[in-house]
Order: sequence, then C-alpha cells, then structure tokens
Amino acid sequence: MKHLIDIADLSEEDALRLLDTAESMAATQERRVKKLPTLRGKTVVNLFFEDSTRTRLSFEAAAKRLSADVINFAAKGSSVSKGESLKDTALTLQAMGADAVVMRHSSSGAAHRLAHAGWMDLPVLNAGDGTHQHPTQALLDAMTLRRYHRDREELIGSKLTGKRIIIVGDILHSRVARSDVQLFSLLGAQVMVVAPPTLVPVGIDQWPCQVSYNLDTAIATHQPDAIIMLRVQRERMSSLGGGFFPSPGEYHSAYGLDRQRLTNLPPQCRIMHPGPMNRGLEICAEAADHPRSVIVEQVNNGVSVRMAALYLLLAGEGNTDV
Ligand code: NCD
Repeated sequence: MKHLIDIADLSEEDALRLLDTAESMAATQERRVKKLPTLRGKTVVNLFFEDSTRTRLSFEAAAKRLSADVINFAAKGSSVSKGESLKDTALTLQAMGADAVVMRHSSSGAAHRLAHAGWMDLPVLNAGDGTHQHPTQALLDAMTLRRYHRDREELIGSKLTGKRIIIVGDILHSRVARSDVQLFSLLGAQVMVVAPPTLVPVGIDQWPCQVSYNLDTAIATHQPDAIIMLRVQRERMSSLGGGFFPSPGEYHSAYGLDRQRLTNLPPQCRIMHPGPMNRGLEICAEAADHPRSVIVEQVNNGVSVRMAALYLLLAGEGNTDV
C-alpha cells in the first residue's frame, strides 16, 4: 500500500491490517507517555484546501504521537489563493523534504491526481476529496463498530459480519457515506441508506447497500446495530440553488433522529455522527448525548486510525509490529 486514497483500493486484508494496527496504536495511547519514536525525523504536511477542524487536528495529533514533524498548510493565506496550481504546490512540498502529504480538497479526485500525476513521489493520505472519499473516516467508523467485541482476542482480525447499519441523511454530498458503504460491505455488514429522494445520488443502485426513503420503516425493518446520522451539508447546496428539502423543520421531522425515533431504536443500537453536528436538524441533543452515542469515541478512534495509516505508509511495508 503506497497511498490511502479510496476504500475501493483496499483489499479485505489491507482493511483488517489498518484496523488491527489502529488497535495496537490505541493500546499505546493508554500509556502514561503517549508519544512513540516511530516516525522521528519524518515530516508530514497537512495540506488543507477546505475547512476542517477535527480531521486536521486528528492527523496532526496522530503524526505528533509518532514523533513526526508536522507542517500545516492551509490554502487560505497561501500562494494557492494567488492561483498557484496543485502541481506547483506538489513540487514545493517535495523540494521541502516532506515525507507524506495529507490532503483535503473540495474537488473529487484531487488526492488521486496529487498521488498519480507524476509531480512528486510521496505517499498521499486523502483527508476528504469533494463528495468522493474520506477513507480514514470510514476506518474510524469501522473501528468504532468493531469494538462491540470487548475482548481483544476476539476483536483483532474480526470483521463486521452480519452487523446491520443504517446511514441517514445527505447521502448525495457525503464522501463519508460513499466510503462507509464500501468499507462496511467489504467487511461483511448489511448496510441500508436512508434519505429524501432529492439527496440520493444517481447510480445508488450500484452501491452495495439497500436504499429506503422512510426512516421509521427503515428502523423497524432493518433493526440496526448502529445508526449513522450525516450532516446536512448546506455549504454544498447553495451553488446548486438549494431546494433539496422544504424546510429544516420538515427535514427534522422526516429524517432527523428525534426523541420518538430514539425510543424506537433497538436496545443495542449505537448512535454515530462524523461531526460537525447540526444539533436539532439531523440529530436532537438527547440523541447526540445519549449513553449509547459513540460520537466522542469516534473522534478518539480517529487518532488511532490515522496513526495506523501514517505508520503503515511511512514506516515501511510488511512492518506491522508496533
Ligand atoms: C466529514 C467531512 O468533512 O466529510 N466530517 C469530518 O471529516 N469530520 C463530514 C461532514 O463534513 O459532514
């Protein structure tokens, strides 16, 4: 594995290696001293062309806990805002001696281009490209779901076989939904996506999941082990003229995780959200703060997954001991 760009590039073995390594990383984070010397002397560049709080901080924390140096490069205020091309940025990074690039970009396919255009020869970790992919989010979601195994012996190497998962909301604009559906189905889960027809992408019939337009029916029939609520991505709607749903109130009553639906969830069902949340729109505060909400665990697991990805890409293939 040279890059981490698209879940479709991963075999089941790759996915399990990443998840198992993330578990080893998580175990090191229970220690009093969290920092490992593994990537000492390496430089990771965080190249963010799109706003991000938790993903950027999470990659930064992950790199620093492995003792790498981190350079944060935000497009605003850089030469990119003066019109510098992705190619020139790539040439600059290579010349500066970077060892890996973490990139978030508003265009789908940007990470693939950076990795494969021949401008530079560094591992690229996709931190989200347009509406296309967000592989580390899918891995941290899978890590969170796999933890229903409490016993480490059972957890390591395990898949999500037979687990029933519902993903709800703005599927159309969601790179998280695309990555999650691919990874969960690769790991043997049964996935259902639920959205208003206007927020379902063309070609969804090719996705390895079921589709429903009614959240109440979906909860009753799918009996989920986990429900993932997606953010309504208003910033990606304005350019398209809006009109994806009549009003926030109507969205909430048809597709929000409200109090009534919370009581209809099966007792084992975990509540997830990739953040940032619109409380009161796709999820009510009671659901977000519920004892079965694992939203904070997702953030925590994000650091372990990103440590694993940086470690496997930078510390050398075949070297999977931590
Ligand atoms: C997601 C993203 O940026 O794609 N958030 C994240 O990575 N924490 C989901 C979102 O923005 O809704």
